[in-house]
Amino acid sequence: MARDVICGTEILPGDTVMLPIYALHRHRTLWPDPDAFRPARFADPKSVDRFAYLPFGDGPRICIGASFALQEAVIILATLLARFRFALIPGKLPKPVMILTLRPEGGVWLGVERV
Ligand code: HEM
Repeated sequence: MARDVICGTEILPGDTVMLPIYALHRHRTLWPDPDAFRPARFADPKSVDRFAYLPFGDGPRICIGASFALQEAVIILATLLARFRFALIPGKLPKPVMILTLRPEGGVWLGVERV
């Protein structure tokens, strides 16, 4: 371990450095219209800067479950959306809260209808 400097701030051996992922993923200099839900911005993964999007971290401690999590999410969504339609419940907009990870306070409330 050695001293280092990040953007003018000295980092000493043993210091903890935390990346504000929420801020990174909504940074105005990295993303156009950063607060908009626009999945198409990921259509061409090569157009996304490698260090601008780190949902699974990076480097030697990168999430070992990343591929599994992405596959699992697609399977769960495909299974549910083949059977049900989901709609927002008026007045129950999900409110994001930052604990260690970002999560919806009180859960996500949706109306469910069988297809
Ligand atoms: C959407 C789901 C998931 C997200 C967003 C996520 C995100 C992360 C992040 C940000 C890290 C820290 C990386 C770092 O320190 O730079 C991490 C570490 C880790 N994740 Fe995940 N993860 C997810 C699912 C999973 C699953 C399904 C598993 C196991 C089956 C898993 C196992 C781990 C393990 C073992 C580590 C620690 C790796 C290490 O420190 O060497 N994760 N994950």
